Amino acid sequence: MDKKLRIGIIGCGGIAHAHMRAYLEIPEVEIVGGADIVPGKARKFLDEFGLTDAKAFDCATDLLKCELDAVSVCTYNSQHAVCAVEALEAGCHVLLEKPMCLNMKEAAEIYAAEKKSGKILTIGFQPRYGANFQQVKEIISSGTLGDVYYVQTGGGRRRGIPGGTFIEKETAGVGALADIGCYALDFAMNSIGYPKPLTVSAVAYDHFGKNPKYYGDAERFSVDDFSAAFVRLEGGITLDFRMSWAMHMDTTGDFLFLGKDAGLKVKQPNLELWGGAWDGAVGQITLYHDMCGKPTSTIIPTGNDVKSNLFYCKVKAFTDAVINGGTAPIPTSQILYNQAIIDGIIRSVACGHEVETDLAFLDK
Ligand SMILES: NC(=O)c1ccc[n+]([C@@H]2O[C@H](COP(=O)([O-])OP(=O)(O)OC[C@H]3O[C@@H](n4cnc5c(N)ncnc54)[C@H](O)[C@@H]3O)[C@@H](O)[C@H]2O)c1
Repeated sequence: MDKKLRIGIIGCGGIAHAHMRAYLEIPEVEIVGGADIVPGKARKFLDEFGLTDAKAFDCATDLLKCELDAVSVCTYNSQHAVCAVEALEAGCHVLLEKPMCLNMKEAAEIYAAEKKSGKILTIGFQPRYGANFQQVKEIISSGTLGDVYYVQTGGGRRRGIPGGTFIEKETAGVGALADIGCYALDFAMNSIGYPKPLTVSAVAYDHFGKNPKYYGDAERFSVDDFSAAFVRLEGGITLDFRMSWAMHMDTTGDFLFLGKDAGLKVKQPNLELWGGAWDGAVGQITLYHDMCGKPTSTIIPTGNDVKSNLFYCKVKAFTDAVINGGTAPIPTSQILYNQAIIDGIIRSVACGHEVETDLAFLDK
């Protein structure tokens, strides 16, 4: 590529810093500018990195007029869809932070804009680049477990409600479920090849976030801090999901994959604080199988590269795909299923019974 990849960053808050650090390590990239709706925030952000010549805007629309090749969308969740669609319509490739969006109406809009634009849209699940996450997928894909019929995913935190824009409906839209829950869903679903989710029955609570005894900003709290769901997947597979920002328990359980020939247990690295979100770290991985007709368990050696910069990997995979005319490293074809489960959980919680996932737009 002769000229550098012209990059913009939409939303210049916390996570935009991790995107910027990664972009600055890639020689083929030029940071053209940033946009944030808080006046002055984009300028301050760019200056922090010594990018005094990069352009700062208070509105993404103005940034998108700068003939960009690609953008990172790092806004809070409720603005993901509107910014991603606008960027695709402006002819940009998009690295969109997780969760993809808030509901299936938004998901369908992003999907339609992606298809119409012919541009790459990828979603920011950096734990995918962790060697241990990849090893779990490899073990399952190898057929060692036989047909997988039950998966348990979740984990969560004993006390770990974040602050800022994460705790209000208007900005985050959803709480623990979409914040760290989407990672737990991605780990499980990606490991088994992202089968289509069919139905969801779920519950959600806010007992800690709304209680000043446990959370200082209880008045502002308007999302979930715990949710659990029973999801039927195509192929007769059951997905059992639990996720918490706060609870009176050390964990909601390990990751379990039950197959007809063997089972795999992936423990969390730290009880009371599920860390897979950031660093792809896992605890002990154990294969449960029969040897000479006897139930046996084998500990699988884990790699020690969990501290490698997964953010760099995710940003580099995106820029490589753009430069080489490749496809999305983490495509909507998968993440729409992740989003359909989150959307199903929200709808099931609201109506109090099982719901069908809303993926009909994919057949049109
Ligand atoms: N991949 C990860 O490890 C990871 C970690 C943390 C957060 N995230 C995700 O990143 C996103 C942002 O999180 P954060 O911690 O940076 O939040 P934040 O609140 O610190 O930053 C979001 C920024 O977006 C700006 N913004 C909102 N709407 C905008 C719009 N329409 N145009 C331009 N700017 C807009 C806000 O003013 C704010 O500065 C969330 O979706 C979150 O789930 C991902």
